[in-house]
Amino acid sequence: MVKEEIEYKIERHDFSEDKSLTSKSAADEYLLQSFNERAIKPKHLGIYNDRFGFLGCHLNSFEPTLILANKSQEKAININSEANKLPSATFSDPLSTLKNKMDIVLIKIPKSLGLFQLLLEHISKNSLVKVTVTCAFMTRHFSPKMLHIAEEYFEVVEQSRAVKKARVLILSKKKKVIKKDLITSLDYNKQAYKQYLGVFSADHIDYATQFFLEHIDLKKTDEKILDLGSGNGIIANEIHKKFPKAEMHLIDDSFLAVASAELNIKGKNIHHHCNNELAIFEDESFDLIVTNPPFHFEYEINIQIPLQLFRDSYRCLKKGGNLQMVASKHLNYKTHLQRFFSSVEIIAEDKKFIIYKCIK
Ligand SMILES: C[S@@+](CC[C@H](N)C(=O)[O-])C[C@H]1O[C@@H](n2cnc3c(N)ncnc32)[C@H](O)[C@@H]1O
Repeated sequence: MVKEEIEYKIERHDFSEDKSLTSKSAADEYLLQSFNERAIKPKHLGIYNDRFGFLGCHLNSFEPTLILANKSQEKAININSEANKLPSATFSDPLSTLKNKMDIVLIKIPKSLGLFQLLLEHISKNSLVKVTVTCAFMTRHFSPKMLHIAEEYFEVVEQSRAVKKARVLILSKKKKVIKKDLITSLDYNKQAYKQYLGVFSADHIDYATQFFLEHIDLKKTDEKILDLGSGNGIIANEIHKKFPKAEMHLIDDSFLAVASAELNIKGKNIHHHCNNELAIFEDESFDLIVTNPPFHFEYEINIQIPLQLFRDSYRCLKKGGNLQMVASKHLNYKTHLQRFFSSVEIIAEDKKFIIYKCIK
């Protein structure tokens, strides 16, 4: 019988202070339960989209490969593995070829079904013919599109009964799939911005970003600039077109966002970083930081993420440097920004969006 009995302690590691947010969901528990019930020892186990390491830690003895789309997930899993005295996990990203073909796969279906498709494509290329894939989701997040995507890759797609408001889909009989295009293209300002499925924002350049680009306040003296939460790199690239000599840094938590930005903006003075915090940058190093900041992760709204990024931005700006950001008006960031910056001006607003300029 293949069964993991030990209960590991998994903590959230994402700056959140909201005690209602948990480090695992019923969907994670259902995945672990269905793996244990099937009692098959995997040759090569793949786990996709583990958030804080609940599955990675509980199934550590099977030496799984954890395939993740975000740096923050990898960091949290490393901390939880160490805290539980487990050996460090093996990680991969959904664009790299795995060393070993998987025969058992567990996947928590991401909110972005574009990303779900990209993950299934990765599974399809990196698994044995007889692979079984168990996909879990909370029932309230169900969309028939999940089934349509799964059916593109597998002959058999079985749905389970709900347990604690979670469900699983079991996929088997892998199809021979014709290679799908994983990159889409969005037009803006006579340029086609390329991006991998699952990268913000799916069908069009975000309207807040467009509003930001119309009003952004740039100066020739801005020599070193950071695009924070850079997505496909559009903000950095539009600035680069106007000031090609400025040293540009782009940072994003999402591996696929960074890989997309690398397709859109390149050059000697362009630097891409995959990270979820600014600790990699020195104090007082940027003249300008621009951002359309994140405030949720998958289905969770977590205001602590942008607040941490604003605090970090203050530290990384030179004296007299400024942070410019666009946000939905209802988020009311002004009072938060005033905690760090002595001057917070509004440089543009419309019915939905507002742009702040915060000077250090
Ligand atoms: C609202 S989107 C903006 C994307 C792009 N700048 C645009 O305007 O289209 C926010 C981006 O922040 C990234 N992100 C989320 N949390 C982050 C963090 N802690 N550090 C850096 N980037 C983060 C997301 O992956 C996403 O690409």
